[in-house]
Amino acid sequence: MPPMARVFVTRRLVGEGVERLRAAGHDVAVWDGPEPPPPATLLERAAGAEALLCTLSDRVDAAFLRANPQLKVVSNYAVGLDNVDLPAAAALRIPVGHTPGVLTDATADLAFALLLAAARRLPQSAQAVKDGQWGTWQPDGFLGADLVGATLGIVGAGRIGEAVARRAAGFDMHVLTATSRGGTPLPELLARADFVSLHVPLTPQTRHLIDAAALQRMKPTAILVNTARGQVIDQPALIDALHAGTIAGAALDVTDPEPLPPGHPLLQAPNVLVLPHVGSATPRTRAAMADIAVDNVLAGLAGEPLPHAAPAPAAPQDP
Ligand code: DGY
Repeated sequence: MPPMARVFVTRRLVGEGVERLRAAGHDVAVWDGPEPPPPATLLERAAGAEALLCTLSDRVDAAFLRANPQLKVVSNYAVGLDNVDLPAAAALRIPVGHTPGVLTDATADLAFALLLAAARRLPQSAQAVKDGQWGTWQPDGFLGADLVGATLGIVGAGRIGEAVARRAAGFDMHVLTATSRGGTPLPELLARADFVSLHVPLTPQTRHLIDAAALQRMKPTAILVNTARGQVIDQPALIDALHAGTIAGAALDVTDPEPLPPGHPLLQAPNVLVLPHVGSATPRTRAAMADIAVDNVLAGLAGEPLPHAAPAPAAPQDP
């Protein structure tokens, strides 16, 4: 049994993960606040810890890592790793883990829910009912987009992109896929797709992948769905495109920044549906993520390879 180690967990987690750490004999401190610890507090609370179990809201940058060379593991409670400076961790030989696989279906479900909601204008029609605007049935009331026979462009072909493609097959959609390694070239996919769904990790290469030029390539009837990371889209360009009618709508689970402040221009744009980053938000998924994050911590503390190690910084994988 490895000696007792200090572990700092930056949020209360769903499930029994923290209890497993304690049962393994470790000294576990859990940040109890309703918001993540501010950066200075994170630095203070993590000082001397041998393991950090953090969430996507915590910035684990080079300065933080250099201040904590004693860390034997950084375990991110997310599949995305853009909040962790992977090259800095590699240089300091601090292993980094994440939670791939277990959130695939929940996230793909949510991408499809967003697609359907935007296609059939659920937010607009539900709001009309709440606002007392439900008139008699109209032949042309709240017309939306058909899915059957429509083309779905999936950008990124990791587990989540593939799971979205499986769902699309059930709706008799045509699927095009663009990846960094091949498939349909992105400009062609954007020009042909009726729906575009993003499933790439946020890296320097994918930051603002969907910029003004990319939006211009899309059909004016197309709908953009994002369950990946907000910064994959150039958000001011998207806001302009929605106002100009360059595309028909956007359905987003992720934004830049998060949370989006009330009154943000994105929320004033037409035909936009924004959710508060809930792709993996089911109890079973979040508990499974906690289990994997804890597996990574326990392995790191034992000096063993992490069962779910981050991909090498030079070879990011689609989530
Ligand atoms: C992730 O894991 O990266 C999601 O964005 C949150 O579950």
